[in-house]
Amino acid sequence: MEIPGYLFLHPTDTIESLQNEHTATLNVGIKTELLNEVPGIPYEKGPCLKFPSQGQFHPMKYLQGLCKSILLNGGQIYTESHAGKIDGNYIEINNFKIKANQIVVATNTPINNLFTIHTKQFPYRTYVISQKIPKGRLPYALWWDTGDQHSEWITHPYHYVRLQHFDDNYDLLICGGEDHKTGQPEREKKDADERYINLANWTKQRFPELEDVQFRWSGQVMEPLDFLGFIGKNPDSANVYIVTGDSGNGITHGTIAGILISDLINEKSNPWADLYSPNRINMKVVSDYLHEVSNMVFQYADYLHKSEISSTIELDFNKGAIINHNALKVAVYRDLSGQLHAFNAICPHLGCLLKWNDDEKTFDCPCHGSRFTNLGVVINGPAIDDLKQIEVRDL
Ligand code: FES
Repeated sequence: MEIPGYLFLHPTDTIESLQNEHTATLNVGIKTELLNEVPGIPYEKGPCLKFPSQGQFHPMKYLQGLCKSILLNGGQIYTESHAGKIDGNYIEINNFKIKANQIVVATNTPINNLFTIHTKQFPYRTYVISQKIPKGRLPYALWWDTGDQHSEWITHPYHYVRLQHFDDNYDLLICGGEDHKTGQPEREKKDADERYINLANWTKQRFPELEDVQFRWSGQVMEPLDFLGFIGKNPDSANVYIVTGDSGNGITHGTIAGILISDLINEKSNPWADLYSPNRINMKVVSDYLHEVSNMVFQYADYLHKSEISSTIELDFNKGAIINHNALKVAVYRDLSGQLHAFNAICPHLGCLLKWNDDEKTFDCPCHGSRFTNLGVVINGPAIDDLKQIEVRDL
């Protein structure tokens, strides 16, 4: 479905932001238009920048189409396959060694890349709610604001809104925002519940006909320093390609990567190659780079902090924490039956101290975004190994 997109000002921002964006988009041939009001949101007094001819489609139907096309063209798809070490022309998967001339790592954040990419992109957690609204009250469109210019995060967290068909009588308004660096919500002294409440208040002000919050969830996005994805040859290897730094635009980047990486493998020139190159260095973002790297280094100092709880006896069912035990940092989780599970709390990627994410019930790494279930199973790279289990009774 073709729909318009509207970018409007965050209260902390000024009209110059929209004017600069307008000029930049016109310079690259996107026919944006400055409007005096924000269509669909009378609460916002304008101005806004209209992006015509944006696309909205169902991501699962799109993926189904892709799968069918891969199979029709002779490809094969294996699920439940844990990709481990990549070494030359081999990749280890479920204890098998698979040989390939070219390998594409499209797993949100690349494995097999020790430092290069992990100092150019940073993990952030974003929150989303959805609420029902009677059908026909709002036009299908995308809305997003220019972000909090006073935020301590380099990403200037912003609100993003879209409308999704729900049933014959209702649409769902999906609204996200309230982002923070992974594992560091406490730096703004706001927990996940408060962030969801903020989102609900924000949407209620702008869309008064919304019903109660129907669904809520959070997710992790990788934010590249210069806000453009990394798609191309992995800087550390000759025959490995990566797709990462999606900044919440994974469907768009995935589609670009399908075109760009197949051109690179087939040695065809592609005008986007330099733009998305994982090797690029953007000197305009040096101060943001230093800010993020010092934040990362600061995470290692967390080893010195005292336990989040003094004893696991304090741990409720379905809760987790990081505690000190015999000079070790231990990640503990008490399951719904009351059983205690304990793991080494040091991230197997490059040794940062993990944090408990109570909203998602996972252990998250604040350095490069590896994530582990409450039972220690890795679910997000760059780490490829599970957490090491530790035998403990209540401490
Ligand atoms: S993800 Fe790199 S140290 Fe944890």
